[in-house]
Amino acid sequence: MLAERIAREPDIQGLVSLAGRTNTPLSHDLPLRIGGFGGVDGLIRYLTESKISHVIDATHPFATTISLNAQKACDFLRLPFLTFTREPWRLVPGDRWIEVRDTASAITALGVAPQRVFLGVGRQAAVNFREAPQHSYLLRIIDPPQDRELPIECQIIVGRGPFALEDELALLQEYKINVVVSKNSGGAIGYTKIVAARKLGLEVIMISPPKYESKFVAYDYDTAMKFLTA
Ligand SMILES: NC(=O)c1ccc[n+]([C@@H]2O[C@H](COP(=O)([O-])OP(=O)(O)OC[C@H]3O[C@@H](n4cnc5c(N)ncnc54)[C@H](OP(=O)(O)O)[C@@H]3O)[C@@H](O)[C@H]2O)c1
Repeated sequence: MLAERIAREPDIQGLVSLAGRTNTPLSHDLPLRIGGFGGVDGLIRYLTESKISHVIDATHPFATTISLNAQKACDFLRLPFLTFTREPWRLVPGDRWIEVRDTASAITALGVAPQRVFLGVGRQAAVNFREAPQHSYLLRIIDPPQDRELPIECQIIVGRGPFALEDELALLQEYKINVVVSKNSGGAIGYTKIVAARKLGLEVIMISPPKYESKFVAYDYDTAMKFLTA
């Protein structure tokens, strides 16, 4: 985790900010603040008052509002800004992907005939699948959601990756899943479900990452650390 690498640097005072979406965030040795800043203006105020000198946006690739806000705030304050993210997954031989641009298109791609769907899209996006109640869903999330948030006919598994390939294979078979819906979040942690789908010959409806261009991007820890120490 990048926070751990930063915590090991005696000359850097790091701080992690989280939106507060999960009840049990991963632990690390850096100070933590939780909750929104109140848009770009609030973030500018926070960065100024806290005397922040460098900003790394290490949020999820699909969290575009905070990424744009952070970029704008840093442009305004002329602070060095880096996007630390994961490379999106690429199609390899054997994959049966239907690539779609957003959740609404993923719902359309599921079609009208009932399917058994593994939903690897997170709690917030899963709510949208209420629009397609003809399907049975298996949803894996970090914290259990409120009942009203569930897609109809939804079974929940609570868990946080990484997951072993053999466990993903067993899960997809046990629940008789015939299609996987996933955000193309990239990185290793969520990838085993994609490998498992390939091995079982299952279709994957893959939601492409939002189009967001950052000026400075790092995919690895060393590049991110150089940004802080240069
Ligand atoms: N979207 C996903 O698929 C996904 C998946 C896994 C994890 N996450 C994580 O969950 C968080 C929320 O995701 P989202 O898609 O709702 O984000 P978003 O749409 O980009 O952001 C919504 C609002 O949440 C607040 N926020 C987001 N990240 C924050 C942070 N690190 N620190 C403080 N405030 C933050 C900001 O509120 P203010 O405007 O008030 O500052 C922001 O405007 C992100 O940090 C992301 O990394 C998202």
